[in-house]
Amino acid sequence: MELFEAIETRRTVKAFDQSPLEQDVLEELFDAARWAPNHKLTQPWRFRVLGPSTRAALKAVAAKVAASGAPDGSDPDLIGAVAAKKLDRAPTLVTVSSIRNPDPVLDAEDYAATAVAAYIVLLAAHARGLAGYWRTPEVLRDSDGIAAVGIGADEEVLGLLYLGRPLGDLPPQTERAGTDSFVTYLD
Ligand SMILES: Cc1cc2nc3c(=O)[nH]c(=O)nc-3n(C[C@H](O)[C@H](O)[C@H](O)COP(=O)(O)O)c2cc1C
Repeated sequence: MELFEAIETRRTVKAFDQSPLEQDVLEELFDAARWAPNHKLTQPWRFRVLGPSTRAALKAVAAKVAASGAPDGSDPDLIGAVAAKKLDRAPTLVTVSSIRNPDPVLDAEDYAATAVAAYIVLLAAHARGLAGYWRTPEVLRDSDGIAAVGIGADEEVLGLLYLGRPLGDLPPQTERAGTDSFVTYLD
């Protein structure tokens, strides 16, 4: 697939075939992510592919976190079950985190570089006929959730990539503002 076509046609996809992506397929995506630009070549991105027991542990924490924040009058067990079930949407889940840098300027740069690496994974998946999306679930803002996926205190979480083979048609293109609304050409 041509690059501009891939950029324009990638979509957030939430319906997947349930077969997990094979490791060699994932490796191709991560291999592409290696080429993300990053200042001082810190290569700060970290990806963790969740196996079945890690996913189960994350689901348990997600249920607990969601139930504890359930609005008054709602059923906490139901709210918890819904949150856990969302982690079953895709056959392959990958956490994205960035190694923290003690220098705040470099830390911000590394976070940005990791976001680029995450996008490369999504774009490369799309270019290979796969699908995915970037999610920032509440459970990965919770210390137990972060611990469940083995992310250390020296890392900052950017999110969770849902990956798999798409089921059905891709969602329609979302409305985007024209370049004149966000680009300024200065003298
Ligand atoms: C940093 C980031 C966090 C996101 N978090 C979520 C999320 O938690 N849940 C969700 O459904 N989509 C999430 N998305 C996906 C966006 O909602 C999606 O990209 C947007 O609707 C545009 O659609 P598109 O990806 O098809 O172009 C996230 C995207 C980014 C970049």
